[in-house]
Amino acid sequence: MSLAGKKILLGISGSIAAYKIPLLVRLLVKDGAEVKVIMTPTARDFVTPLTLSTLSKNPVLSVPFDPDDGSWNSHVELGNWADVMLIAPASATTLAKMASGISDNLLITTYLAAKCPVFFAPAMDLDMYLHPSTQANIARLISYGNFLIAPKEGELASGLCGAGRLEEPDEIFKILSSYFEKQLSLKGLSFLITAGPTIEAIDPVRYISNHSSGKMGYALALEAAERGARVTVVSGPVSIKADHPNITVIDVKSAQDMLDAADELFSTCNVFIAAAAVADYRPSVFSDKKIKKNYGNKQVAIELTTNPDILATLSAKKQQGQVVVGFALETNNALENAKIKLESKKLDMIVMNTLEDQGAGFQSDLNKVTMILRDGEQKETPLLSKSMIASMIIQTIVRSFPLQSQNL
Ligand code: C5P
Repeated sequence: MSLAGKKILLGISGSIAAYKIPLLVRLLVKDGAEVKVIMTPTARDFVTPLTLSTLSKNPVLSVPFDPDDGSWNSHVELGNWADVMLIAPASATTLAKMASGISDNLLITTYLAAKCPVFFAPAMDLDMYLHPSTQANIARLISYGNFLIAPKEGELASGLCGAGRLEEPDEIFKILSSYFEKQLSLKGLSFLITAGPTIEAIDPVRYISNHSSGKMGYALALEAAERGARVTVVSGPVSIKADHPNITVIDVKSAQDMLDAADELFSTCNVFIAAAAVADYRPSVFSDKKIKKNYGNKQVAIELTTNPDILATLSAKKQQGQVVVGFALETNNALENAKIKLESKKLDMIVMNTLEDQGAGFQSDLNKVTMILRDGEQKETPLLSKSMIASMIIQTIVRSFPLQSQNL
């Protein structure tokens, strides 16, 4: 696919592999992309700004402001401008600064301000690359949702042979092209996602709920929207916001409200993902007045009634061509229980996570899941940011099921 009109912010740091970047800039610009280059001070020793400004047709930026005329290169504006930021080559120092937020140059301040996806292509000597601190920094950057363009094995500038060679410019070009292509792969499709907790009122001031933050459901919504789908999130009360023009949020409180809202939209969606942590029970009686504290009673009981199972209810109405995905948060016999839910709720896929995975789950920005497909295929992810997990889940849905907008 053509990169016409795509805005690419290219950060170059100090590695000998910087000599390959003019070729990459040429490929990108020839394909119609708009390229702005930021160089770290050391990068300028490896490749000249004049070469890069000539090829990119834009001034090369290195410093936050020009000391002669005081003009400011706003890292925030640059970060907002880009559709994609690519840091290539990413030296060991630049990786470390990105991972720890040490923003002592324009490249890193812009990286921290960037709202767009960030790709980084490390290049350095073998020993530096294999050092645990470099590996830990790379793992951290991946966990923040950045995309690694892994270095290749081969002869290095030092004469050593091994991993650390910057990926070739034409391969980096292909990776960016396929990223933009993937972005639009869900155009014309409609996603319905439940997210967040539900709250079940006891009286006007009290309720029963759970710790769900909604982060996983919103990350899925963003991923589907970025790939071009129209997404409706039926959301319980959460503190996060959806920030994409393709996403509509319908705010609800109780499980019954969530079911009513989702039910109205279900027949016209291509994919339904139930990511909400729905309260299984609600108080049998709602008291419209605040229930008074009874000083005489040490124990008080609230009678509960079962809530409707939104996922099972909607899945039972599934039409041909629709895909239904559920989540299963398990504490024991995780796989077995998840498979039972996949069957009993007639799902196409279930995404299982356990509270046993340290750092994953409710409230956290990280998650670790196993995706189980109807045909028995299983895919386990490492502990990653929820946006990376969302990307893998959407990717799996796209690869495993034929999604066609004209089906519905
Ligand atoms: O049965 P369990 O609650 O473990 O199933 C979890 C899955 O079912 C999740 O996808 C959740 O969003 C969905 N669910 C639902 N309505 C309920 C309970 C769970 O949609 N009342």
